[in-house]
Amino acid sequence: MNISRLTPHVHYVGVNDRTTWKFENLWPLPFGVSYNTYLVTGKEKIALIDCVENASMQSLKNRINKVVNNQKIDYLVVNHMEPDHSGGIPDLLFTYPDLKIIGNKQTIGMVKGYYGVSDDRFIEIKDNETISLGDITLKFVLTPLVHWPETMMTFIEEEGILFTGDAFGCFGALNGGVIDTEMETEWYIPEMYRYYSNIVGKYGKPVQMALKKTSSLDFRYICPTHGPVWHQRLKEVVEIYNKLSLYEGEDGVTIVYGSMYGNTEEIAEAIAVRLNEKGIRNIKMHNVSKSEMSYIISDAFQYKGLIIGSPTYSGRLFPPIEEFMNAMEVREIKNKVIATFGSFTWASAACKQMNECLTRMKIDQVDSLDMKQAPGQDDFTAAAELADKVAEALGY
Ligand code: FEO
Repeated sequence: MNISRLTPHVHYVGVNDRTTWKFENLWPLPFGVSYNTYLVTGKEKIALIDCVENASMQSLKNRINKVVNNQKIDYLVVNHMEPDHSGGIPDLLFTYPDLKIIGNKQTIGMVKGYYGVSDDRFIEIKDNETISLGDITLKFVLTPLVHWPETMMTFIEEEGILFTGDAFGCFGALNGGVIDTEMETEWYIPEMYRYYSNIVGKYGKPVQMALKKTSSLDFRYICPTHGPVWHQRLKEVVEIYNKLSLYEGEDGVTIVYGSMYGNTEEIAEAIAVRLNEKGIRNIKMHNVSKSEMSYIISDAFQYKGLIIGSPTYSGRLFPPIEEFMNAMEVREIKNKVIATFGSFTWASAACKQMNECLTRMKIDQVDSLDMKQAPGQDDFTAAAELADKVAEALGY
């Protein structure tokens, strides 16, 4: 894999993972994932920005040595403690006996809790503090809950680089290049939506605070812990994060439905046809029994309209729809145009439970329809009316 010199003092030394099936054992990785690590070589000190998961340590050490030829590493900056970035810490501390871990108070508590590291291996920093590497300075900006409570970013003013942790990261290993100027990056953008919505999606407000806090920093490179280094597309990816953290959807509708025998699906299809007749061109449909939840969540974040349909199943929601509703509630989704449709054979429950969930989320849906058994003409008429209301609320 490419060891890329990003700027005079900074090398990319991260590793690709093309073997793990699911990130966090939940989210599919069809194109792999990278664990990004950066080596900052100052005149007096050398620092590593973030580490990698434990299984990738030998590869990371080989790559570090190609740059610094067995010199010692003085510091490891831990911008984020999740074990995909911190699993290699015990190995790193053993390999470099003088290495100190730089982190904030929360980081240090977590490193101790996960890896039993002793007090003398830490340097605790506070918000906006700096540490000099000689001819270059690391500045630490605390950005809590841009995924976990300890998350922070590291800024090098002299090089115009901001190391952002998970923020602006995406799924997908790095295929040959590292910086977005070196390779085709269009396919990473949907993987950024998926990464944000699946992993960071609950933390819209903290992301907004982090964006405001870093907006005064003069950076030309965003170096996240996953995916490409952003340089050419920097403004675009900042805007994607801004939009997603405000829960602002793009033009389009996601229809998420469950259906055991095709009756609820017929209503989903009828709604899609009507939306299309009203001029909506971007309609994403997900049969929850077939689509991966990861992609459904991503589309629900990306588009402004969201229509959810569920049969009643054992007096409750169809189980994958219940999982989807939980995912929306956990992520505190808002600012969407939402409608629901349900079905039942002898006792209606799905609609009621979707409505209760939306009420807890303080979301006013634009319409809801409930269907008994197979769809009749009245149900198709109600489906068209529901689609009309969604289209109108979307400005069609
Ligand atoms: Fe890439 Fe939140 O870990």
